[in-house]
Amino acid sequence: MKRGCIDLGGVTPHNIKQLKLLNQVVFPVSYNDKFYKDVLEAGELAKLAYYNDVVVGGVCCRIDVTEGQRRLYIMTLGCLAPYRRLGIGTKMLEHVLKYVEEDDNFHCIFLHVQVSNESALDFYRNFGFEVVETKQHYYKRIEPADAHVLQKTISKS
Ligand SMILES: CC(C)(COP(=O)(O)OP(=O)(O)OC[C@H]1O[C@@H](n2cnc3c(N)ncnc32)[C@H](O)[C@@H]1OP(=O)(O)O)[C@@H](O)C(=O)NCCC(=O)NCCS
Repeated sequence: MKRGCIDLGGVTPHNIKQLKLLNQVVFPVSYNDKFYKDVLEAGELAKLAYYNDVVVGGVCCRIDVTEGQRRLYIMTLGCLAPYRRLGIGTKMLEHVLKYVEEDDNFHCIFLHVQVSNESALDFYRNFGFEVVETKQHYYKRIEPADAHVLQKTISKS
């Protein structure tokens, strides 16, 4: 496919149905109403990705504070299959990394990835994420049920 224009835009009540549809197609896990209610409040932590003005991707994160450590958790970051390997995932992840770097108060970024998801593992490793833990039976309704925890520590400037 010829490379086109990739943009990110905010999630609003007007377009949130597009994010829901996208997540239903891209992820084997379904997300509830509370997830989407929170996404509407997430500001820069939730974005839709457009390829030539068409929605093809989305990223949703939240801030997690555990044992005094402030961490950014990537809940979903996905792109429709026909639009993969065009830099859309990179654009979304770079946005998240920029957010974290500008805030200057995050210890790390982390997420869960199904152990079989080689493309996501390759993708995140490119950006310096490492498998720090593997959780058995993390997913309840999908196989394999185990998840890797991928993490990237933020170096203080
Ligand atoms: C993981 C995912 C978001 C990557 O999105 P993408 O738009 O294809 O990523 P990019 O085009 O920016 O890829 C950047 C680099 O990551 C690596 N990469 C991405 N997909 C890969 C794959 N299938 N195999 C090997 N490397 C891959 C490559 O190095 C790639 O660079 P290149 O294309 O120049 O070789 C996408 O595959 C996806 O939506 N998967 C389903 C949802 C998911 O599993 N999300 C992760 C958990 S939140």
